[in-house]
Amino acid sequence: MTGVAFRPVTTDDTVTLLDIYNHYVTTSTVTFDLEPWSPRDMDHKIDTVAALGMPFIVAELDGDLVGYAYLSTFREKAAYDTTMENTLYLRPDMRGRGTGRLLLDEVVRLGAVAGVREVIAVIANTPDAEASIRLHNAAGFSLVGEMNNVGLKFDRWIGVVMMQKSLAS
Ligand SMILES: CC(C)(COP(=O)(O)OP(=O)(O)OC[C@H]1O[C@@H](n2cnc3c(N)ncnc32)[C@H](O)[C@@H]1OP(=O)(O)O)[C@@H](O)C(=O)NCCC(=O)NCCS
Repeated sequence: MTGVAFRPVTTDDTVTLLDIYNHYVTTSTVTFDLEPWSPRDMDHKIDTVAALGMPFIVAELDGDLVGYAYLSTFREKAAYDTTMENTLYLRPDMRGRGTGRLLLDEVVRLGAVAGVREVIAVIANTPDAEASIRLHNAAGFSLVGEMNNVGLKFDRWIGVVMMQKSLAS
């Protein structure tokens, strides 16, 4: 995939980010949210990531926002501060073209610049998330854990896998 450019998110992106994220909230198990986010929820996430000094980037193709990624708190307690959880979502029609890899590599690169040492992906262990698991594998994440039946969505119990990439040199 060529022609994809990255830039930091702004609150002008909120509506487009919600279009992307809420599609997955309402149609898939890749996120454990059960209700669509409001503009206030997304603006709060943008502000929270900025306050952490972590990257929140969007991918654009021909001027259109086609995906986004950010790093945010993995666990609240202070000793976890150099470990971040990554999140990324593509506009549905943009999946399967290599854009996810570019976006993930870029947010991880920016995380390293911001002092992140370990990046954790918490991924639903369902067929919906097969692309995500494969993507993280290809991008150098290793499977480090698995939890069963920790979520209930669409009347099904859902587990997660944890994948980790170390940025320590
Ligand atoms: C997960 C996501 C970011 C991956 O990005 P992408 O651009 O679609 O993926 P890529 O084209 O870079 O391909 C990554 C890998 O997934 C595989 N893949 C892509 N689409 C797939 C699909 N629908 N089913 C199974 N595997 C798929 C690719 O073959 C590739 O695997 P490989 O490296 O072993 O060949 C994107 O599909 C997406 O936004 N999905 C919905 C939201 C989501 O799951 N977010 C992650 C939450 S943890």
